[in-house]
Amino acid sequence: MMTDPWYQAAFGDHYPLLYAHRDEAEARRCLDLLPRLAPLAPAGSSLPVLDLGCGDGRHLESLARRIGPVIGLDLSASLLALARKRFPHRVSGLAGLLRGDMRRIPLADGSMGGVLSLFTSFGYFGNLRDNLVVVEEVSRVLDVGGHWFLDYLDCRRVRRELAALPAGKQRTRVLGPCRFDEVRRLDGDGSRVLKDVVVRAVPGHEEQAKAFGIGPRGVSYTEQVALFEESELDAMAEGRGLFRCAAAGSYRGDPLGEGDRWLLVYRRDAVKGQGHD
Ligand SMILES: C[S@@+](CC[C@H](N)C(=O)[O-])C[C@H]1O[C@@H](n2cnc3c(N)ncnc32)[C@H](O)[C@@H]1O
Repeated sequence: MMTDPWYQAAFGDHYPLLYAHRDEAEARRCLDLLPRLAPLAPAGSSLPVLDLGCGDGRHLESLARRIGPVIGLDLSASLLALARKRFPHRVSGLAGLLRGDMRRIPLADGSMGGVLSLFTSFGYFGNLRDNLVVVEEVSRVLDVGGHWFLDYLDCRRVRRELAALPAGKQRTRVLGPCRFDEVRRLDGDGSRVLKDVVVRAVPGHEEQAKAFGIGPRGVSYTEQVALFEESELDAMAEGRGLFRCAAAGSYRGDPLGEGDRWLLVYRRDAVKGQGHD
């Protein structure tokens, strides 16, 4: 029996309950930092910027205000529907909301002035080679001189956090009409962080839970995000003509490795790299 890949189950109707605190205010803090690292779009470029894995669109309006035309792309129909609700009327500068897979971006070569992969919208497809296809797509759609902003987890910090957790420790949260049971762990070879998630309706709230896609049998999946070293990300990018030009360790602008995440910025060079395996 074919089952949906984890990233389809995880980014369904219930996702906004889990990440309600990841809101537009946090999105603005992130977007305040990024232009201090590199231009969101090259000076004088009229090409749009792509928010790759835009989710419910919390960065889009602020991006459009700052730089002009913006396109959001996401695979999740549920999250794109929320993005459309967020912008019931055309926001000036919002050039499009597209449903698609980041491994096959439905945009022409060199047609984007910048690409943003915000809040860990990367590393979902297994190992280095499987994720390389996303880097290839980013490089293909980026115009020369444009930047790829990769907002990613700090793999060392995640490993430290997991090492400090008792094995199998469950975290339970009740959010709205749903109960979430989560266990975080490393996969067998330590290359990915996994989170086993079980979502059920809180007894007595079954009808409300249905509105978040949680039926009588509940929903379960295992999130799987690659724990790439900085050097691995750099090598993947360089192999595709993307060269690191700036970095930070948090939305506050802490140095890399001294904050809670990695903000890595790669510039699309005229000469493509030689490939990387
Ligand atoms: C962690 S969320 C981040 C969303 C958004 N960038 C934010 O900051 O709120 C990751 C996003 O990637 C999207 N996604 C997952 N797999 C995808 C794929 N194969 N192609 C396109 N988008 C995908 C999810 O639907 C989700 O919206």
